[in-house]
Order: sequence, then structure tokens, then C-alpha cells
Amino acid sequence: MIETKGLTKRFGGLTAVDNLTLKVNAGEVFGFLGPNGAGKTTTVRMLCCLISKTSGEARIGDYDTGRSEDALKIRKLIGLVPDNVGLYDDLSAYDNLDFYGKLYGCTEAQRKENIQRFLTMLGLWEKRDAMAGTFSKGMKQKLAIARALIHEPELLFMDEPTANLDPESAKTVRDFILELKKEKRTIFLNTHNLDEAQRICDRIGILSTKLIATGTPQELEKALSSRGGTRRTVVLLQEQATDAILAGLRLLTAVGSVTAEGNKLDVTLSDPEKENAAVIEAIVKAGGHIQSVMIAGASLEDVYLKLVREGGS
Ligand SMILES: Nc1ncnc2c1ncn2[C@@H]1O[C@H](COP(=O)(O)OP(=O)(O)O)[C@@H](O)[C@H]1O
Ligand SMILES: [Mg+2]
Repeated sequence: MIETKGLTKRFGGLTAVDNLTLKVNAGEVFGFLGPNGAGKTTTVRMLCCLISKTSGEARIGDYDTGRSEDALKIRKLIGLVPDNVGLYDDLSAYDNLDFYGKLYGCTEAQRKENIQRFLTMLGLWEKRDAMAGTFSKGMKQKLAIARALIHEPELLFMDEPTANLDPESAKTVRDFILELKKEKRTIFLNTHNLDEAQRICDRIGILSTKLIATGTPQELEKALSSRGGTRRTVVLLQEQATDAILAGLRLLTAVGSVTAEGNKLDVTLSDPEKENAAVIEAIVKAGGHIQSVMIAGASLEDVYLKLVREGGS
């Protein structure tokens, strides 16, 4: 659906996006994760044909963002929820959407149906006649999302759609993204929010001017452990940890180190998903009673911070 090769944008002496090579598949929620100034907005603007690239290639479906005759076709295929929503404050919510629908050449029937459908899905239908200028930040954000969908684009770009929203509104927006995924739309989601990326994205690309990693949330976690990050299993016992339990665990080859504190055991492992079964068995064999087992360490947050600090090196 999206394919870039060596996509680069320079503003004078500043390189905002450096040699980005990326593929996003149809039907996928792709999280483009990076700190402020990483180049996320610049990338999206290039992909939406709003600014020109300095070098490289970017294709949307069968079209080339660099060809002026393709730009219009790309615009029909995509929707954009920009980082600053920019609505007409003195038009009602309904009329804001109707106006955009007309710009996109949607028929009256299509506009009517989609305005009702998306405003209802986003919980704004009751507010359709209120001026957009009277809306809260969260409501404006939702209206901007409906606006981006009015012509039913296959591919939706969302530039930090939950930034500055209260938790309740952020959740509505995230749930809505998952609804859109069910409709088989492709979503390219800019975010600096790790937890958000991890919760709703099928794949994540980490950007810091350069693309420094891509993969599913699970793959990114794995990538860190292979780069020397440690993963741990924390076991709570129903009783104090005994020497027999510690000795039993230390016999396991997979176990790096074991520390005990009261009824809590902290076990270092390279692949806890695989090795926890052996850990549990060893504890039970040594007479321990397990209350709970939890995998900790090397979360996506660790990967993210580590990779961004290293700048991809
Ligand atoms: N129009 C512009 N002119 C000059 N520099 C820009 C312009 N737009 C963005 N930049 C710079 O490019 C870098 C990337 O910005 P941006 O793409 O907005 O990052 P992000 O969206 O990840 O926060 C920043 O250093 C920013 O200051
Ligand atoms: Mg941005």
C-alpha cells in the first residue's frame, strides 16, 4: 500500500527525514513512532503529496508521489488527520463535513450517509448542529477524523490523533482506529506514545530522522533481548523461598541469575516464554507453591529508549 525507497527531506541544511525505506501492507495499522522532531509529520506530508521530497521514492498503491499527474489520484485514495486539525469554527460540525465531502466530489447521498455514520461512531451525532468553534479539543479531533474519512479512503494517515486528548477521548479514538481496521482500511499512525503503538498497531517503525527499527511489537522486544537486554521472570511463592528452590533453579541452564527476597523470586532468562515451564517445574519439584508468574523487563519502552538514544547505531 505504501512503499518508500531512500525517501529523504532536507530543509536547507537540516535533514528532517534521512533515507527512509519502508513498506506498509494493505489492511495494516502501522505505527510510526518517534520523539518530537523525529520527522514523522514531514514523512506524512511527503506521502500525502503536500510537500515535495528532496530525493528517493515514495509510492502509494500504484501511484508515484513524485508525479504531478498522480497526486490527485493519491488524494482520492487517502485521508489525512493532520497534526493541527484546522476546522471552520463558524460552520456546524455537519456543515464542516458536508463542505469537505463536496470538495472530494462525493454525491449528496454519500455525504449524508457517511456524515451520519462517522459522527455516530465517534459520539458526535447529537452535536452535529453545533458550531465547530464551540467544540472541545477532543471533539474537534474526532470531527477532524470524520472529515478525513468522508470520501471513504482506503488509506488513512493520522498524525498524533490522541496527543493532548484526555484519557477518555484518547480511548474513543483508539477504539475507533480498531473499528476502521475491521473495515479493512490501512492506517498509518504517527505517535510518540509507545503504549498506544504497542496496543493498537500490527507493526511499528521507530523513526529518529532515520528509520532505526521495524517489526511487530513482539519482534521489537525480541530484538532488544538479542542486543543484550535482560528479561526476567518474577515468581511469587505462597511461602518464603527455600535454599532447595534456589538450588533447583540454578541447575537450569537457561537461568542466568536468581535472587530471592521473601516469597519473591527474580529469575533472569533469555527467553521467558519458552523457559518459564522449566522454571515452574523446578520450583514445584523443590517443594515450592506458586502464587503467580510474571514476565518482566525489556518492554517495548526499553527497546524504544535504547534505540532512540543509540540513534540506530
Ligand atoms: N517547513 C519546515 N522548515 C524547516 N524545518 C522544518 C520544517 N518542517 C519540519 N522541520 C524540521 O524537521 C524536523 C522534523 O520535524 P517533524 O517532521 O515535524 O517531526 P515530528 O513530526 O516527528 O515531530 C524538525 O527538526 C523540524 O524542526
Ligand atoms: Mg509531528
